[in-house]
Amino acid sequence: MRHYIKNRYEWGGNPLISHKTPKGKGSITVGLPHFRENNKEDMNILVTGANGQLGNEMRIVSKGSKDKYIFTDVTEQDGVETTILDITDLKAIKKMVKDYNVKAIVNCAAYTNVDKAETDKEFCELLNAKAPENLAVAMKEVNGLLVHISTDYVFGGDAYNTPCKEDQKGTPTGVYGLTKLHGEENVKKSEVAYLIFRTAWLYSEFGKNFVKTMLNLTSTRPQLKVVFDQVGTPTYAFDLASAIFTILENRKFNGNTGIYHYSNEGVTSWYDFTKVIAELSGNDTSDIQPCHSVEFPSPVTRPSFSVLDKTKFKETFGMAVPYWTDSLKRCINNLMNV
Ligand SMILES: NC(=O)c1ccc[n+]([C@@H]2O[C@H](COP(=O)([O-])OP(=O)(O)OC[C@H]3O[C@@H](n4cnc5c(N)ncnc54)[C@H](OP(=O)(O)O)[C@@H]3O)[C@@H](O)[C@H]2O)c1
Repeated sequence: MRHYIKNRYEWGGNPLISHKTPKGKGSITVGLPHFRENNKEDMNILVTGANGQLGNEMRIVSKGSKDKYIFTDVTEQDGVETTILDITDLKAIKKMVKDYNVKAIVNCAAYTNVDKAETDKEFCELLNAKAPENLAVAMKEVNGLLVHISTDYVFGGDAYNTPCKEDQKGTPTGVYGLTKLHGEENVKKSEVAYLIFRTAWLYSEFGKNFVKTMLNLTSTRPQLKVVFDQVGTPTYAFDLASAIFTILENRKFNGNTGIYHYSNEGVTSWYDFTKVIAELSGNDTSDIQPCHSVEFPSPVTRPSFSVLDKTKFKETFGMAVPYWTDSLKRCINNLMNV
């Protein structure tokens, strides 16, 4: 059974952030808007992988929308409604699109176990590359929109020291990153209207993730070693879900097909990330030491620098991106106030 926090589904705690958009495009409300521009027609939106981290956050942020959201996954989850859909099954996807008159899909499903992927290449390719193609084909048939999620791990093979841009060549270091890159390519080739969001270091109150692991370890271990030679940016899945929801709710996708980078603001290492988790949770007894990645043998070499440049996202959609420690604080507060 999955761990989830029931009252988070009732939560409307995202502060509305109103700000001026760049290039004088006017003011946009970010968060959980209850308005839409130009009174556009309501839409049926299908969310895949709805019982994962991002999918669960989509459930939360879309509450109150005039659009109808249909939440799907391969298995059920206690306490919430899930329609079963396996995204490797094109026939089943097409049937669901027809039955529910689906006009947009948000694909939160993926093979996300980076280490295991190294020995499970075929299935990883099926889920991360072929399945997004299935979704693209189904949306293309009805002139719909595919919102697909990718990863900073499409980069890493080169020694970067400046944030990666959307049009930069992919240089994955492992099977997970490679199959996610194939997924992006398949979506692009399909000629469907799409938004691909590459994100990074995702955490939330749901499922297993680094924040929850470190909350546990920093409160139970007297000493911890954490790598400091992998640098990137953590992303609170709630923030990414809010951004996707706002774009859908305000019909900001028209004319904006393309790849976008979305992580929280700022840069950190896993070591520094852990130090802040300990600080914010009050777990200050553990001695946390920095170490090199070679001290933790792993089946895959992870990127040493995979910071994403979010300029294109901010300029296109006019949204502010929360700073990583501010978002971490919100997530830890939620986790500790269960
Ligand atoms: N997690 C990260 O750190 C991270 C970083 C960068 C990018 N991303 C990307 O962000 C997206 C969301 O990640 P996440 O962490 O929210 O993922 P997640 O928690 O692993 O959730 C993925 C969901 O997809 C489901 N699923 C598996 N096979 C499926 C199938 N055949 N059909 C339909 N659903 C299926 C999973 O079910 P089961 O659990 O039952 O398999 C799970 O509920 C993914 O595209 C991921 O690649 C994640």
